[in-house]
Amino acid sequence: MIIQKIVLVLSVIYASGNQAVIDPYLAGPHEVKDYFLMSKDTGLTEVELNAWSPLSPGIYPILYFLDGLAMNIPGIAYTDFLSHIASHGFLVVTPFVTATTSKPSEKVPYFRAILEWAEVNLQDLLHENGVPADVLFDFETLFANSHSAGGHAIVSYLQETCGNFKGLILMSPVDGADPFGFVDDFCITPGEQLNFITPTLHLYTGYDAKKGLLGTACAPKKLSNERFWEALNPESHRWSINATEFGHADVLDAEFRVFVDQTEFCGVNRDLQAEDYPIYRNFSSGTVVAFLQTLLVEDYAGYLNYLEDVSVMPIVATERHFTPAGERPSPYCLWTPPLQ
Ligand SMILES: *[C@@H]1O[C@H](CO)[C@@H](O)[C@H](O)[C@H]1NC(C)=O
Ligand SMILES: *[C@@H]1O[C@H](CO)[C@@H](O)[C@H](O)[C@H]1NC(C)=O
Repeated sequence: MIIQKIVLVLSVIYASGNQAVIDPYLAGPHEVKDYFLMSKDTGLTEVELNAWSPLSPGIYPILYFLDGLAMNIPGIAYTDFLSHIASHGFLVVTPFVTATTSKPSEKVPYFRAILEWAEVNLQDLLHENGVPADVLFDFETLFANSHSAGGHAIVSYLQETCGNFKGLILMSPVDGADPFGFVDDFCITPGEQLNFITPTLHLYTGYDAKKGLLGTACAPKKLSNERFWEALNPESHRWSINATEFGHADVLDAEFRVFVDQTEFCGVNRDLQAEDYPIYRNFSSGTVVAFLQTLLVEDYAGYLNYLEDVSVMPIVATERHFTPAGERPSPYCLWTPPLQ
């Protein structure tokens, strides 16, 4: 009750900012172009990246996306999802590393190198490649979005430092390095809390833990979702949304998802129709946009609604959230040294 009242009072105050809420499930107001930089462009061995940039004049926050095989696949597999987010006013960057290591935690040094490199070089390089000179990026306001084993990589990074990250999105996060947990490479110890406090969106699917044809799930129960959700620091604002009818790979662009479906590498819901997937992708990108805008815009209550009211969501979903101390959500990250 108290929390609700504070949110109400705040929303009245911030409403004076008078920013209209833009439906996050629809394309945003910005035209977007995509860019591909190879390792010869970045000068970083084994590192390539895809970027989606708004083209209208402005200064944009940056969303780093760590993909489903712990940064092993090109960002183009998620083009619909990522370009939709960019159209709402974010530079989206998907670095990928073709290195052969299968341990997600071993991607962290690459990621650190990319972040350092990007801070110095990325804006200039995008300008040279056609992004207008009055489009600028805010390297102090970074957000991290992950899918699957990318969640392991980003949590491992944040355990060492928040860097300039100020919010975290975990889509069906998976710990470990193999579906059985044989290889010793974990970011989470069940029962222990993570050593960083940051607003977090956890998005996951009802079929994550369903086994595929190989007899393993892409997000085995023991290694994913609840394992991360329960480890989040209780001081963190956090939202968790279960897209109960969808599967682990359904956020991918159609041609990549169809490949996963045909091989049944991940468990899938055979009752879904072709027209359900674009709605689901827009729901996923729209929910990420609503989360980011909740942290960023003054009049945030309209965006918060898209995280907490399942009746406005275009798919079937269940939701839970925690709003510590009744404070308004804001972009920040607080790090403490890990317990040894
Ligand atoms: C999904 O969003 C895209 C823009 O990203 C838009 O072109 C498309 O019409 C939307 N599709 C649905 C089914 O809402
Ligand atoms: C998410 O939804 C699926 C399908 O309804 C359900 O089996 C699963 O238990 C849900 N997950 C949680 C953590 O509630």
